[in-house]
Amino acid sequence: AVETFDSKNLRIKLVLLGDSGVGKSCIVLQFVRGQFDPSSKVTVGASFLSQTVALKDSTTVKFEIWDTAGQERYASLAPLYYRGASAAVVVYDITSPDSFQKAQFWVKELQKHGSPGIVMALVGNKADLEESREVASEDSQAYAESNGMFFIETSAKLATNVNLLFEEIGQRLP
Ligand code: GTP
Ligand code: MG
Repeated sequence: AVETFDSKNLRIKLVLLGDSGVGKSCIVLQFVRGQFDPSSKVTVGASFLSQTVALKDSTTVKFEIWDTAGQERYASLAPLYYRGASAAVVVYDITSPDSFQKAQFWVKELQKHGSPGIVMALVGNKADLEESREVASEDSQAYAESNGMFFIETSAKLATNVNLLFEEIGQRLP
C-alpha cells in the first residue's frame, strides 16, 4: 500500500474460487469490461486481469484478480493462486446446491491455508434465474455470517451487484 496525505492507493491480490460454470469468469469480465459473454469458455488453469476502483473516501484500489479454473482437475493448482491473496471471492450458482457445497469446501480450505485476515466474500451468482433458485438467500447469509464473510447475490448477466461486490471488498480491506 502506498500512502499520500489525502489519499490511499492500495494494490490487492484477489482470488476467485468456486465450481466450474458458476460464473466466475463472467463476473470478472463484467467488472473489468462491462460485458457479458453467454458463451463463456471454461477457464484453463487460471486467468489474470486487473481493475482499479475509486472508493468513496478517495482511496483507490487496484485489484489484481486471479480467476481460477473450477474444474476438478485444476483443484490442486488453487493454492498457487490463493497464496498471498488479501481477498477471496467464493462463488456458487443460486440454482445449484452442489455448487453451494463446493463453495463451503473452498471456504474451509481458505480458513486453513489462506492468508491470515483475508477478506472473504460469499457470492451467489445467476440471481437473474430466480425461477430456478435452489439455494435460499437466508441459508447463505447465515453460513456467511457464521464464517465471518460477507454475502451478496450477483448477476453477471444483468450486471447486478457486480461493482458493489468489489466496492464492498475494498471497504473491508484493513
Ligand atoms: P470455470 O472457468 O470452468 O471455473 O467456470 P466459470 O465459473 O468461470 O463460469 P463462466 O463464467 O464461464 O460461466 C459459465 C456459464 O454460466 C456461461 O454459459 C455463462 O453465460 C453463464 N453465466 C454466468 N453468469 C451468469 C449469470 O449471472 N446469469 C446467467 N443466467 N448465466 C450466467
Ligand atoms: Mg472461468
